[in-house]
Amino acid sequence: MIATNAIQFALQGDMFHCPIKGEFEYLSDALILIDLNGNIAATYQPFDAEYALARDELKLAGKLTELTKGQYLLPGLVDLHCHAPQWPQAGKGLDLPLYDWLQNYTFPLENRYTDLDFAKEVYGDVTKTLLANGTTSAVYFASIHREPTELLAQTCLDVGQRAFVGKVNMDNAEQCPDYYREASIEKALYETELFVNNVFSLKGNDSGLVSPVITPRFVPSCTPTMLNKLGELVQKYDLHMQTHCSESDWARDYSQTQFGKTDIEIYADAGLLNNKSVLAHSIFLTEKDVEMIKRYNAGIGHCPLSNMFFANAAMQTRELLDHGVQIGLGSDIAGAPSPSIFRAAFDAVSHSRVREEGVDVKLSASDRGTAGSRVSFIEAFWMATTGGAQVLDSKTGVFAKHYHFDAIVLETNKDVGNLRIWPDFDTPKDILEKIICLAQKENIKRVWVQGKQVV
Ligand code: GUN
Ligand code: FE
Repeated sequence: MIATNAIQFALQGDMFHCPIKGEFEYLSDALILIDLNGNIAATYQPFDAEYALARDELKLAGKLTELTKGQYLLPGLVDLHCHAPQWPQAGKGLDLPLYDWLQNYTFPLENRYTDLDFAKEVYGDVTKTLLANGTTSAVYFASIHREPTELLAQTCLDVGQRAFVGKVNMDNAEQCPDYYREASIEKALYETELFVNNVFSLKGNDSGLVSPVITPRFVPSCTPTMLNKLGELVQKYDLHMQTHCSESDWARDYSQTQFGKTDIEIYADAGLLNNKSVLAHSIFLTEKDVEMIKRYNAGIGHCPLSNMFFANAAMQTRELLDHGVQIGLGSDIAGAPSPSIFRAAFDAVSHSRVREEGVDVKLSASDRGTAGSRVSFIEAFWMATTGGAQVLDSKTGVFAKHYHFDAIVLETNKDVGNLRIWPDFDTPKDILEKIICLAQKENIKRVWVQGKQVV
């Protein structure tokens, strides 16, 4: 007997997940039971003693959904770094270097969000688009404005996306334009603390689906006082924190010339780092930086496609994975144009391969690249799911008891998108790798967050 009353619904079918970095598990014809709170109550495989009875009882109770052949249940994807207000800018201006791109495109656009109608339109669209692409958890930078950022948090609740939302802070008059800068530190801190409390008490947020995030844009945007005061807020409420970290030559050099320190040293000294910090990019890290990130148990949001445009160098993804640094993936909308974390996973692999092989045909093959620096497709999928969830200290990404049920159904049957499977000779590993390489929005048939179907 199983307590079917305590089960909201169950799914039976083929599933993939990556509980261990670098490995995948294929659960063939498995059963997953979701409790009334949207958490996983149990998973059974056909060889488990409880399997047949649980399936039969749930079927009898009308609570069992069977996936069809060619459908696969996967954990929902985690986007560690997305600028929601930059969605209208996706695909624009990417020929420019970061500084010009920010000044010419980004700041004027972000400043439009005092218009709540505009904010509503964009935030409704970007959250739904990410969900439709399988992103069940998203970490959002909004704009410097509190009310529109609260609207983004509310929108995430309304569409049912697990979200981590930050009001951006930027007060350095030398780097931020007059029209897009905090009016004063006092006001910015008051608004930020109010934002934090308002998000915690949003109607419908009792289960904490949406979390506030302290969001200093990056070192050049913020005065040292601002960073220190934001660090105090992180400590006071034990909050998530997100920022850009050593993203480009320019950003790295700015910190060195102004403060004689690396970004990590600056953030650590300001009290901003903890086990829920998301450090987007993190390209130019010193050995000491890496040790400090590990010591704080902070995490990196790797944004491979955006790095191609703005980073000036290749991410040391292989080394960071091998050092056991927490790392997941980000879209960095709109520093890269794709809202898909499948695309980010694919890019993480392909960029690591370019790094491994090298690019300069005038060099011999042995001198051209960095041997052994490739990242596997399975590692990329781990970053897209389990790794990202670990960065956020979130119980998602794995199909196991007590985890939140955030999941997607991937449809691989012919005539849907570009993904094709040949069941008689594609192995489970082939199928998962094909999904990572070829899955599009059309292949994502259903999406659940916290046990609630949202697509
Ligand atoms: N560094 C500071 N602000 C930004 C931003 O909006 N996007 C990216 N990619 N990098 C930044
Ligand atoms: Fe960014």
